[in-house]
Amino acid sequence: MIIFQTKPILISHRGANLLAPENTLPAFDLAYQMGAAWVECDVVLTEDSVPVILHDRDLWRTARSHADIDNLTYDALQNYNVGAYFAKTKIQATAPKLEALLELALKYGRGVNIEIKPALSVYAEATAEGAWEIMGPYLDRIPILVSSFELKALLWYRENAPEVNLGYLMSSWQADWKEKALHLKATSIHCDEKILNQKRLSLLTESEYSVLAYTVNSVARAEELFKAGVTGIFSDDPQLLSKAG
Ligand code: G3P
Ligand code: MG
Repeated sequence: MIIFQTKPILISHRGANLLAPENTLPAFDLAYQMGAAWVECDVVLTEDSVPVILHDRDLWRTARSHADIDNLTYDALQNYNVGAYFAKTKIQATAPKLEALLELALKYGRGVNIEIKPALSVYAEATAEGAWEIMGPYLDRIPILVSSFELKALLWYRENAPEVNLGYLMSSWQADWKEKALHLKATSIHCDEKILNQKRLSLLTESEYSVLAYTVNSVARAEELFKAGVTGIFSDDPQLLSKAG
């Protein structure tokens, strides 16, 4: 499956997280309704190894409760409202299972970037494997791109699921990014937009890899990055592209 049909692309970061609580089904649904071709989500395992969508190990920031996701079973997680932090609406939402988002993406015929975000580094391979068991049946039906800051997670896919498109994530500049990407047979390089100066942008965009920058919420910055040749941006605003020239 060709992963990026058109360019530039927008990946709605944690769904439409300015309008609904991040990483919840209402946020993903809104992002697709607003025209996003892709959404990005963070996937972690519960204590009983269920792949769910949640950014932080600790539920304090979103659910206002001190509990770690790797110490909660999926059933126990149902008692936590991960929309508790979101003052704009009274949306009650639990952390969704990965398959709930994949079903939604299938309904809209859109893409999903699954960021493997293990609660602890030691769970990297288990999280990769758990997510793989869920996403496998969807691979030929919707565009799926897997990324992670955990190299061990990406290597797990390259060894066990060679058909999966991989994105190599960089929050700080890695001088050996090209060797890593080659070793991973990556499709794309995902970079914090803050580390992208003109020199680095040239190196990346002249390579064979698609280049995605996160998290871009300014039209001016999006235009600058597209002019430099990036393939796409992650944005908290699903409609940022229509505002860019
Ligand atoms: O995958 C891009 C971006 O989501 C990485 O940072 O912390 O928002 O997961 P974070
Ligand atoms: Mg993420």
